[in-house]
Amino acid sequence: MANQPSSYPILCASFNQDHSCFAIGTREGFKIFDCKTGRLLYERVAGAFIIVEMLFSSSLLAIVGAGEQPSLSPRRLCLFNTVTGVALEELNFLTSILAVRMNKKRLIVILQEKTFIYDINSLKILDTIDTVPNPKGLCAFSPSLDGSFLALPASTTKGSLLVYNVSDLRLHCEIDAHRSPLAVLSLSSGGTHIATASEQGTMIRIHLVSDATKSYSFRRGSYSSNIFSLSFAPAAELPDILLATSSSGSVHVFSLGSPPNQRSSGLLGSIKVPHTINDALDPAQHCILHHAVPAGVRSNTLIRKIEKFDGTATPEHVVLRATIPMITYGGYFLEYVYNVNHQNKSSWTLEREFNLLTAETSSLP
Ligand SMILES: *[C@@H]1O[C@H](CO)[C@@H](O)[C@H](O)[C@H]1NC(C)=O
Ligand SMILES: *[C@@H]1O[C@H](CO)[C@@H](O)[C@H](O)[C@H]1NC(C)=O
Repeated sequence: MANQPSSYPILCASFNQDHSCFAIGTREGFKIFDCKTGRLLYERVAGAFIIVEMLFSSSLLAIVGAGEQPSLSPRRLCLFNTVTGVALEELNFLTSILAVRMNKKRLIVILQEKTFIYDINSLKILDTIDTVPNPKGLCAFSPSLDGSFLALPASTTKGSLLVYNVSDLRLHCEIDAHRSPLAVLSLSSGGTHIATASEQGTMIRIHLVSDATKSYSFRRGSYSSNIFSLSFAPAAELPDILLATSSSGSVHVFSLGSPPNQRSSGLLGSIKVPHTINDALDPAQHCILHHAVPAGVRSNTLIRKIEKFDGTATPEHVVLRATIPMITYGGYFLEYVYNVNHQNKSSWTLEREFNLLTAETSSLP
């Protein structure tokens, strides 16, 4: 997600597609960390960067400057090799680059009113999508080659979105998810589900991508709040839980049971959900960790790993454990563990926390 230049020391933070690493951009350069150990793997001092995206654990990075140095234009995408330290290719655009996504076949570049889809090997443009003004570069992408979808906002006045199949470059469906414009959208790793929140931030909805039907609605809270991120637990099929972070500094976990109000709809493809958006709430197990990070500070977070146990096998009878790393734009890495026991009681522990700005390759946290 693109970030306006801010007073935070971290200008961008993103996890790679298999959640093994994360990259941050600062005013001085960019750094790559191992998600599991927190070890600093790579660092380059080269100026301010607003986008740093990895392609899995490969040496390829897509980087975009923040425009603070004359050579680092926010309109130029550089494909950079971390092993050789050399720019492989540069692509220049007419307006600032707001977001970049990649998988092993595609490179996607989001501008304010256009989205470009490239073949990542030949860098040939495969498709250009004219979008509604998308000043925040909102998008969701599922990197799996089996379900490679791209979702983009379809309106500036309501919360509707268009989902494209990035493999065959076709529009897959349109979904009317919220009454207010979208604030966050996120696809599950296998591309089966899409979660959305609007600028109001009170409701979170999940739709099935296959037929654009709504499968869940959750209430995050009754007063509005900015939802910073949404992410599904890693899973090929139905993910178990959805994680949300908000401007209040809270982390919310919603358990996804079997979808209670799945409506059947005949046609596959471009289906519009009727204009009356059903606000019926699904009874969800909803757990909140308050003050996970300081209120108002942007953060990027996801579920790195989910483990399930036979309830009696662990002394505390833990049946589900989720490992949740968080990167705050204030410059910290935190890792929480969320446990659910056999009585459905949940608990949180902070496993580690360290400063990303002072981390050095020689002194490991
Ligand atoms: C997306 O396109 C690919 C390539 O044509 C195709 O195999 C796949 O079935 C499509 N997915 C959906 C959900 O239509
Ligand atoms: C725990 O929650 C699940 C669904 O979320 C429910 O099916 C199960 O009966 C609950 N178990 C207990 C012990 O409450």
